[in-house]
Amino acid sequence: MGKYYVTTPIYYPSDNLHIGHAYTTVVADALARYHRLLGDDVYFLTGTDEHGQKIQRRAEEAGKTPQAFVDEIVDNIKALWKLLEISNDDFIRTTESRHAERVQKIFQRLYDQGDIYKSEYEGLYCTPCEAFWLERQLVDGKCPDCGRPVEKVREESYFFRLSKYADRLMAHIEANPDFIQPVSRKNEMINNFLRPGLEDLCVSRTTFSWGIPVPFDQKHVIYVWLDALSNYITALGYPDETDAGSLFARFWPADLHLVGKEIVRFHTIIWPIILMALDLPLPKQVFGHGWLVLDGGKMSKSKGNVIDPVVLVEKYGLDAIRYYLLREVPFGADGVYSEEALVLRINTDLANDLGNLLHRSLSMVEKFAGGVVPAPGTYGPLEEALMTEANHTLEKVQNHMDKLEISDALAAIFALIGRANKYIDEAAPWSLNKQGNRERLGTVLYTMVEVIRLSAVLLTPFLVETPARIFAQLGLDTDPTAQGLVAGSKWGQYPAGTKVRKGEPLFPRIDWEKESCAEKEKPAPVPQPPQKATPPAVEPEQITIEEFAKIHLRVATVLAAEKIEGADKLLRLQVRLGNEERQIVAGIARYYRPEELVGKQIVVVANLKPAKLRGVLSQGMILAADDGDKLALVVPEKTMADGAEVR
Ligand code: ME8
Ligand code: MG
Repeated sequence: MGKYYVTTPIYYPSDNLHIGHAYTTVVADALARYHRLLGDDVYFLTGTDEHGQKIQRRAEEAGKTPQAFVDEIVDNIKALWKLLEISNDDFIRTTESRHAERVQKIFQRLYDQGDIYKSEYEGLYCTPCEAFWLERQLVDGKCPDCGRPVEKVREESYFFRLSKYADRLMAHIEANPDFIQPVSRKNEMINNFLRPGLEDLCVSRTTFSWGIPVPFDQKHVIYVWLDALSNYITALGYPDETDAGSLFARFWPADLHLVGKEIVRFHTIIWPIILMALDLPLPKQVFGHGWLVLDGGKMSKSKGNVIDPVVLVEKYGLDAIRYYLLREVPFGADGVYSEEALVLRINTDLANDLGNLLHRSLSMVEKFAGGVVPAPGTYGPLEEALMTEANHTLEKVQNHMDKLEISDALAAIFALIGRANKYIDEAAPWSLNKQGNRERLGTVLYTMVEVIRLSAVLLTPFLVETPARIFAQLGLDTDPTAQGLVAGSKWGQYPAGTKVRKGEPLFPRIDWEKESCAEKEKPAPVPQPPQKATPPAVEPEQITIEEFAKIHLRVATVLAAEKIEGADKLLRLQVRLGNEERQIVAGIARYYRPEELVGKQIVVVANLKPAKLRGVLSQGMILAADDGDKLALVVPEKTMADGAEVR
């Protein structure tokens, strides 16, 4: 057990926040919850960055004072975090006096010790990014970060001696490989900024007034990034409260500053140098995650393509959105947001794998044991295998979370859930019930319920409503996570003899066709060039249901597959179809390697007249989709009994 201090960027209240901001904040929240469940002393900070030229201009456009303008948006931001059940310990606003006064003290100290000096600034400024640039850094004359035009500014300014600390920073970055993550961002900082050399940084402005005044020269306001970055320590009380027992003493240095990739530079060059000048330890890690983009472009209000998390939560529920944000994109990489992908995640992982596991298990407990979970008898090999997997899952989750591989951590939990579904198929409690094998049936039912309880414990850092709903349906009255993640995910804690309380399905399946048609405001689809193999709108020849019923389609498992000498398109498959085995010759050799097929379930036409292909007997035909370029086998979406009818 240790301490864990995690921060998000403090967001600009220039507009309501969108799904991209929710992304960072939900990830930070999952990390905070995870560390609390490990017993760490956690502090989770978020807030708003309210000063600067951009906000002043936006307020002017809205005909409001900057303070009135930000107050309204900050209320919305706080409401959003409440809606998403963000578990932050504090919310810092840079317009609060506790912050502003401390920033002034920091500025004063840097000035007193000679790290800030007065001079004249002449250069370029990007207002949307609140960033200074040199001519040589521009790309096509525009801001290299956001591609928007920059403005020439020339004014008396205070400067911060970044250059003085450049070597020390470089040495720190090289000695601490975890400091900037992912590694690609570290290399970018070294090659693009540190190696070419650091210029001293302009840290005050005089041409607008919405900022914290320089304490000894009131016509200057402090540069918004110096103001904003300081939030990570002012919120802990620095420099006023630093004694033993203070938040600052307890939590600084931060364990993790979580930020989007576009502001890594501020957090890994300017911020560490401010800290060095203040003689404070540096954060242990700055992680620059990727962007959620829409069809290749970044979300932005000016493009009118932002996704509002409030609308999504109302439509699909909180945990569905949290799950999607945490699961869909490998953390660090850019990811494309799409509502269709969100619905697919809900339907496959949440409704199908997790929801069905709970529902079918509780149905069986009701049907075979009167709703009361029996005590397990002797565990057999199937149970031992599942228990081992469950133990490994905790380890996997911990390993992934330590590396901020959030999506992989969730994937590991869902692999266990998938394994549990498979266990039920293999253990076949319905057969045990038929055979009257009560002891074995009891063991299987208990195992089913216990693996669900354990999975729900593991999901607790990520999802905020679902684990409690699962515990309630399992009939549990005490919170299995009360002793933490490790203790709560030990096998065998479900109290046998408990009566389950089966409830509503956790995640009803969503009909995407219907949802997507319901979106009336959607722009008309861009006409696509005709593709090969587009099916005709109406099939030319129609058949009756009786005619269709003549075709017997069945599920089969491929037992063996091999190439046929002299026939480069054909494979010979041995398949199991109910109680019988058959040989089928299929023209799929150019699309599938034999070893890929073994173990797969496929769909076959079972009553096709046997035929010989290249002299080899074929007792049926397999179904595959063909679009002219690719070929894809039709497979059952979950494991089915061999021989099951397809209709
Ligand atoms: O930069 N995908 O605030 P900001 C992923 N005030 N993350 C996104 C995103 C997207 N499409 N859009 C925004 C500022 N974010 C400064 C920070 S910190 C001392 C000062 C997230 O309102 C991501 O975390 O522009 C990004 O870094 C942050 O919001 C930018 O928020
Ligand atoms: Mg931004």
